[in-house]
Amino acid sequence: MTISYQTPKRVTVVGLWTGAARAFERSRPTVTIGRMSARSRDLPRRSCLSTPASSERFLAKAPTVAADMTFLDLEDAVAPGEKVGARAKAVDAIKNLAWDDRVLCVRVNAWDTKWTYGDLIEVVSGAGERLDEIMLPKVQSAAHVIALDLLLTQIEENCGLPIGHIGIEAQIETTRGLINVEEICAASPRLETIIFGPADFAASMEMPVLTGGVQIPEYPGDHFHYVFSKILMAGRANGLQVIDGPFLYVRDSDALRDFAMRTRMLGYDGKWALTPDQATVLNEVYSPTQEQFDRAFDILDAYRHATEEEGRGSVMFGDEMIDEASRKMATKFVTRGERAGLRRSES
Ligand code: GLV
Ligand code: MG
Repeated sequence: MTISYQTPKRVTVVGLWTGAARAFERSRPTVTIGRMSARSRDLPRRSCLSTPASSERFLAKAPTVAADMTFLDLEDAVAPGEKVGARAKAVDAIKNLAWDDRVLCVRVNAWDTKWTYGDLIEVVSGAGERLDEIMLPKVQSAAHVIALDLLLTQIEENCGLPIGHIGIEAQIETTRGLINVEEICAASPRLETIIFGPADFAASMEMPVLTGGVQIPEYPGDHFHYVFSKILMAGRANGLQVIDGPFLYVRDSDALRDFAMRTRMLGYDGKWALTPDQATVLNEVYSPTQEQFDRAFDILDAYRHATEEEGRGSVMFGDEMIDEASRKMATKFVTRGERAGLRRSES
């Protein structure tokens, strides 16, 4: 797939421009390029393994963990005094460890620190070829994403990487970020995912909890339901994968399974894993079952037969009436199952 956009300023602020600004942009030459960060955009992200880049031990272990996506963290899992040194460790790990074809990402420090530009230049210049994406934490506005996009373009140009090679994952973990999530999700063609960060978000909301991202028994209902839904809608409206953040009770797999099922049922693509055991649970939770996968194919077959051979828009499928909306739902199951490596059972 290709997209057209104008250079050097791109479609990153579509929706925000005035008519005059648009007219000015239209006067500049348009180039057509491959869709940005195409390799990893549609790869599965059921489990996203967080790995502190300051720890050689954790880095060495990461490629052996069966996670769909791994991110090397330069942000909150790394102590301030270790942050600069962790950059070279991340570069070395990306270049020299035996990664398979999983999505590989580095989380840089947020723009309100002194480390962001140094993180980006050292990591993307040093290991940009294998690196799929940069994760930006604490995104507050579209401008944060646009600034990252512009700097990535300069680094790619200087390193001889194709422009648009590096994708962006944006974390929503502040109240301001949530308020602006719609413009954030539309801010750059590099964006691949939008991620909820429950721990920082709980702090930003000043919730009276000491552990973010877990159930609060005192709250009657799901205290994050609105947040989950708002982020999901903004992400989907812009074609992004949508990911839930960490679950901090790392020894309780049953509680993780139970909590992860909330975002799974809403439609999220995956969730962060802090341990190999969490990755195993999440790969299961965010995959369709074989039964659901096979049923989705059966619905598609029945609907195709009804529309193409009988000229009918709706038809009975067992006890259920199916129509075009059923086809859309079934297609999602098939796509998600194929991403997870499922194959249709022999009938
Ligand atoms: C993740 O970064 C979080 O704050 O939950
Ligand atoms: Mg955070």
